[in-house]
Amino acid sequence: AYVVTESCIRCKYTDCVDVCPVDCFREGPNFLVIDPEECIDCTLCVAECPVEAIYAEDDVPTDQQHFIALNAELSMQWKPIVERKEALADAEEWAKVKSKLGELLR
Ligand code: SF4
Ligand code: F3S
Repeated sequence: AYVVTESCIRCKYTDCVDVCPVDCFREGPNFLVIDPEECIDCTLCVAECPVEAIYAEDDVPTDQQHFIALNAELSMQWKPIVERKEALADAEEWAKVKSKLGELLR
């Protein structure tokens, strides 16, 4: 499955959602995750993300490995998002911030 990582937090551009053929994105207050049970590894979402938050599970960077379990966990709690919407306010500012896991709202 593909995995959403830290760069998405407090940005949530949602461009990824529009291209997913199986609607497997799930939405939290300031982050999206991919349901690993539903993702068919089509790769389409990767190029859509302006902050390059999405990786194939096998290519998730070492310092982002915990996001694999986090996508699985939160996808069971959050609701589907199937249409693109406005990015979060201050998304451009937060796009430059590297370490922001502490900002994640559940
Ligand atoms: Fe959806 Fe394809 Fe991205 Fe998986 S890789 S989340 S199926 S767009
Ligand atoms: Fe997040 Fe990138 Fe999608 S910022 S909402 S993974 S387009």
